[in-house]
Amino acid sequence: MALILHLTFLFLTTIMLALSLTVSPSTEFSTTLLDVTASLHPQQTQPNPTPPPSSSFTLQLYPTHSLHNPPQKDHLSNFLAQLNRDKARVNSIVAKLQLAISQVNESEVRPEYLSSPVTSGESQGSGEYFARIGVGQPPHNFNLDLDTGSDITWLQCKPCERCFQQVDPIFDPSGSPSYGQITCDAPQCRQLDQKPICKANKCQYQVNYGDGSVSMGDFITETVWFGKTESVPRVPLGCGHFNVGLFAASAGILGLGRGPLSLPSQIKATSFSYCLVARGSNRSSTLDFNSAQLDDSVVTRMLSNPKVASFYYAGFTGISIGGRRVPVPVSTFEIDSSGNGGILVDSGTAVTWLQNQAYEAVRDAFTSLTVNLPRVPGRVLMFDTCYNFSGFETVKVPTVSFVGQGGKSWSLAAEAYIIPLDRTAGTFCFAMAPMQEALSILGNVQQQGTRVSFDIANSLIGFSPNKC
Ligand SMILES: *[C@@H]1O[C@H](CO)[C@@H](O)[C@H](O)[C@H]1NC(C)=O
Ligand SMILES: *[C@@H]1O[C@H](CO)[C@@H](O)[C@H](O)[C@H]1NC(C)=O
Ligand SMILES: *[C@@H]1O[C@H](CO)[C@@H](O)[C@H](O)[C@H]1NC(C)=O
Repeated sequence: MALILHLTFLFLTTIMLALSLTVSPSTEFSTTLLDVTASLHPQQTQPNPTPPPSSSFTLQLYPTHSLHNPPQKDHLSNFLAQLNRDKARVNSIVAKLQLAISQVNESEVRPEYLSSPVTSGESQGSGEYFARIGVGQPPHNFNLDLDTGSDITWLQCKPCERCFQQVDPIFDPSGSPSYGQITCDAPQCRQLDQKPICKANKCQYQVNYGDGSVSMGDFITETVWFGKTESVPRVPLGCGHFNVGLFAASAGILGLGRGPLSLPSQIKATSFSYCLVARGSNRSSTLDFNSAQLDDSVVTRMLSNPKVASFYYAGFTGISIGGRRVPVPVSTFEIDSSGNGGILVDSGTAVTWLQNQAYEAVRDAFTSLTVNLPRVPGRVLMFDTCYNFSGFETVKVPTVSFVGQGGKSWSLAAEAYIIPLDRTAGTFCFAMAPMQEALSILGNVQQQGTRVSFDIANSLIGFSPNKC
């Protein structure tokens, strides 16, 4: 009897010891596995299942890299070029906000926000992903860069006063009976952000991107095709006769913003969703309109900026590193009445830029859980938290999650926040950066591999991992 009691006691203490080891908050945190080798060679390791369309209004979505056949450069150098342009994209978003918030005219905005020089490089403009869409009657297909940060959809049009190189023949409106000119007194013309420009009662549009790219021409309506059978007539589009910038050989921009002139608004979509495949891969995915929210989505409120109608903000309630909430200022997640704060969801910005105080809290939480990993000292581009994974095949890194409604967490794949910066020296960086302005931006690197759903009818944004 005494022996049995003694054994039971031993058994219990062992269990309690084991328990205290697993639950002890100071040693345990959740981790995610990073496949170092696959990060460097995405296309060799990923299959290419083209997902079935989940709605009748579906467009195929591709990483820009796949436009070049064979690829002119490896995807890593393309990516580095994009990172070098990322600040210009951020500056253009800040400029748009500043213009709206302070209601100043363009002459008062810091000039570097409006006129950063056009950088050389083959992929440029608003993003690293394009959708293939049909325009006109009969339909011709074009690659348009996905842009959730702007409203107007435009493509290059003949006759070209100035056009950049694109993959498909340039759209010729003279051959399309469904082409219609928008007049200057039409409501759509008055909805343009800029002061209406009129040429012989033809409404003119003009869009400037922060990197110096510009498109202008006739503001028109055309039939837009989603696949071979579904079409919507009289969608307002920019027919660009003067286009400057290197848009990665695509024909223009697909404006998915929240304003009245965007494609989702114009086709009266109740929702749209996309999934961005790993950028170096040659897989495709889809951009779906009117598709249902996925069951496993982590949902947030879709917040509005009272000053800028185009932007989508995700009402996250927290950020966790290694499964633990990070103390970040409340203003990170909320937009105040003057239009400051909040986390904007942008398809065109590469990395996630967090308002400085939030960034420091997140970065410090991450570094405190990675003291055992070999660091690369100093900064690499905009990153201050880099590691040397040379010789590693896989590494366990702290899990990064954004917290949505009901405390549910959207946990990112490791490849979406630990990214390779070179091929040989083994440098990988924590892919977030600080910004001084009162704003945060969720970039497309973090969105990779997740289906992001914009439920316009219910003002919700959903994040559903592993759905490309
Ligand atoms: C992806 O690209 C690689 C290299 O260009 C090629 O070998 C491979 O067959 C492609 N895979 C698919 C599924 O297209
Ligand atoms: C812009 O603001 C400046 C200074 O307030 C003013 O002189 C100028 O006329 C304004 N320009 C326009 C186009 O409103
Ligand atoms: C990482 O370590 C390897 C050797 O272990 C070294 O050759 C390489 O230069 C280091 N990379 C950096 C960026 O320091």
